Amino acid sequence: MTLTKTAPWQALQRHRETLSSFRLDAALRGDPARARSWRFEAAGIEADLSRNLATDETWRLLLALADAAQLARWRERLFAGEPINNTEGRPAWHTALRAAPADSGVARAVGEQRSRMLDFAERLRSRQVKGSTGKPIETVICIGIGGSDLGPRLVTTALGEASGPIRLHLVSNIDPVELDVALAEAAPESTLVVAISKSFTTLETLENARAALAWLQRAPGVDARRHLAAVTAQPERAQAFGVDASMVYTFAEWVGGRYSLWSACGLPIAVAHGAAAFDDLLRGAAALDRHFIEAPPAGNLPLLLGALGVWYVNFWGCRSRAVMPYAQRLRHLPAYLQQLEMESNGKRVDRDGRLLDHDTSPVVWGEAGTTAQHSVFQFLHQGTFFSPVDFVTAAGFESSAAPRERLLYANALAQADALALGEAALKPSGSAKPAYAVVPGNRPSTFITLPRIDAFSVGALLALYEHRTFVQGVLWQINSFDQWGVEIGKQLLKQRLAD
Ligand code: F6P
Repeated sequence: MTLTKTAPWQALQRHRETLSSFRLDAALRGDPARARSWRFEAAGIEADLSRNLATDETWRLLLALADAAQLARWRERLFAGEPINNTEGRPAWHTALRAAPADSGVARAVGEQRSRMLDFAERLRSRQVKGSTGKPIETVICIGIGGSDLGPRLVTTALGEASGPIRLHLVSNIDPVELDVALAEAAPESTLVVAISKSFTTLETLENARAALAWLQRAPGVDARRHLAAVTAQPERAQAFGVDASMVYTFAEWVGGRYSLWSACGLPIAVAHGAAAFDDLLRGAAALDRHFIEAPPAGNLPLLLGALGVWYVNFWGCRSRAVMPYAQRLRHLPAYLQQLEMESNGKRVDRDGRLLDHDTSPVVWGEAGTTAQHSVFQFLHQGTFFSPVDFVTAAGFESSAAPRERLLYANALAQADALALGEAALKPSGSAKPAYAVVPGNRPSTFITLPRIDAFSVGALLALYEHRTFVQGVLWQINSFDQWGVEIGKQLLKQRLAD
């Protein structure tokens, strides 16, 4: 079945035409209940969808499209661990990392791998892990890239100051600068280097790990091997690299790289914030998973957000989508979502390899507010095309005792209103503005609030975005869990190096 030929798709096309004169200011002011009835909750996260270019009819048709794409069946397959990543012949079972699946063998393995990793993190935090000269480890340098870096980087930053004694560095780029900075602040005797790589073949990670190892080997009296650990789904490769078996932390092949922060790859999170915070993160994600499974379609937040994403890409021609975290601690959210959405859904063929006749992932970008207001918001307000925006902030800021946190929240709301209403948001001034100063409005956004930025809510937020991405992939009829496009660069590099 080609989705674009289905009745709901065609009905959405006709419906879109009826919205050519739709105005958000009229919709919001004409229906005061809209702000209330378009507000949804999932695992404590609230999302106000009222500032979107949509009507009740839009939702009805988008839900019909989700039915036509058999979303419920695909969701079942996702959670049951069926091999829905068909090009790699394996499940995409990251949900099994946050709530034990029915398969007791899988549940046991996941539990053991997590306990081992968390126990190691706690021993590091209590200074029980000693280097080869007997000094406790004080610095941990985690080397990983893509999914082996972005999730842990986002979460460690989101949870604020590290609570333990360990100084943590995350290194990803092959540009030596990043590792050099970390090494310059570290002493070999009290440093642990952790290579995090699902495949343990990634050039950047292995080269940086080699450089760190060489640095350890140059230190007099240090047994470098005892300062090296690995997190991987390929333990033999890590051992062949020189990591002692007792220092290899593993996870299953069915954990996708960009979905791996919930596995032993979350070691940096546990080192910085402790096992309890890591458990809370998993609990938050599991709560969102339950919502995704149980909530009826009309109130199912990942489903609504995913469907809305399709609505803008395929019926409004949007090729860009912005995510603006109004929380400095969430500043890595755009980079994390770029991989999550663009690597998952930047695809041009369907699950059976047929060329698609519709667009898929937009460009995802963003920057922390309010900083972004002084750089990119000009484009959002007055550019020649619009880019739907997700505002992500914390309800706690609204009533915070800290005036600047209240200002942060008020700024996010003001921007959302300015995008939606344009000039109509302002009190009438009596004088007409010149064209260059007019802000047209009618630009959509979704306002997402976490109760506060803690491990539970961050876990729920990331699971929300994962499932939103999955919903879009199902509606687009693609495999969201492979990433063949990145292979050509790796092959070409090998070819160049061999020439
Ligand atoms: O090259 C892309 C990619 O495969 C991502 O999907 C992945 O997150 C990243 O590289 C790192 O891979 P690994 O964890 O195997 O080093």
